[in-house]
Amino acid sequence: MDLEKLCNEVKHIARTTGMYLKNQQALLRHNEIELKGTRNYVTYVDKEAEQMLVAALQKAFPEAGFLTEEHTVAFEQRAFTWIIDPLDGTTNYVHGDTPFSVSIALMKEGEVILGVVFDPVADQMFSASEKGKAFLNDVLLQVNSQATLENGYIGFGIPYSLDEKGEQILRNAMTQFRKCSFRIKGSAALEICYVAAGISDTYFHSGLSPWDVAAGAFILQCAGGKCSDFHGGNNYIFGKEMVASNGAIHQEIMDHIIH
Ligand code: IPD
Ligand code: CA
Ligand code: CA
Repeated sequence: MDLEKLCNEVKHIARTTGMYLKNQQALLRHNEIELKGTRNYVTYVDKEAEQMLVAALQKAFPEAGFLTEEHTVAFEQRAFTWIIDPLDGTTNYVHGDTPFSVSIALMKEGEVILGVVFDPVADQMFSASEKGKAFLNDVLLQVNSQATLENGYIGFGIPYSLDEKGEQILRNAMTQFRKCSFRIKGSAALEICYVAAGISDTYFHSGLSPWDVAAGAFILQCAGGKCSDFHGGNNYIFGKEMVASNGAIHQEIMDHIIH
C-alpha cells in the first residue's frame, strides 16, 4: 500500500469537502440549524459533507470501513477504518465564526496510520502518513520546546456534557490563569494540530470522540509531540479524554491541571 499516494488523495478529498463547507457557511439559514443537545449543533452541511467524504474515500480505498460522527454510514468492523469528522467546529460554523475543519484518519488494526485535518478558511492542510514526518501545507512540522506553565500558550475545550471531573479540571486551570495564556478555539482536531505546529504548547479536553482526535493525535505524534489520556495511558482516541502536548510540558499539565 502506497500511503503517501493515498495521503495525497485524502488531502485532495479534504480540500474539496472543506471548500464545500466554506461556501455553504454564508448560505446557511437559521431554520437549517438543529440541536443534538444543549449548545451541540448540527446542520445539513455536516451530513452532506460526510456523505461526500464517504463516497470519495470509499473510491480511494474500498477495503476500509467507516466510523463517522453523523452516522450516515454504518460502522463495520474491518482491518482498516476511516475515522471522520466532516465538520469539526460546528458551533463556530453556525455562528458565522472560525476556525472549523475536516478531519480524516485511517486506522489499521487499532493504530492510526494516516491523518489529514484541513481548515478551508485559513487554507491550512495538516497531514501525516509516515512516522516522524508531519506537514502544514508543504512545511515540515515540529513541536515547540516550552517546558513550563509559566508563559505557556495553552488550548483547551469545554465538553458538551460537563461532568464533575471536567469541572474540576477547569477549576484547576483557573488557578493557573495568571501564569499562562489559555485559548478555546472550538475545533479540537485543529487545536491538536496547533500543538503539532508549535503554535500552542498543549491542548487538553474531556468528553471528546474518536473523530475529534484520531487524525490530530497522529499528526502531533509525527511532529514529535505526545498524547495521553488523563491517567497518562494510551486510551486517548476512544477514552473520551486527551492531553496533547509538545512532550516537554506534559508532566506539568498532568500534575497541575489534570489531577
Ligand atoms: C466539537 C469541537 C469542539 C469540542 C467539542 C467537539 P463538533 O466538535 O471539536 O472544539 O470542544 O467537544 O465535540 O461538534 O464541532 O464536531
Ligand atoms: Ca468534532
Ligand atoms: Ca462534527
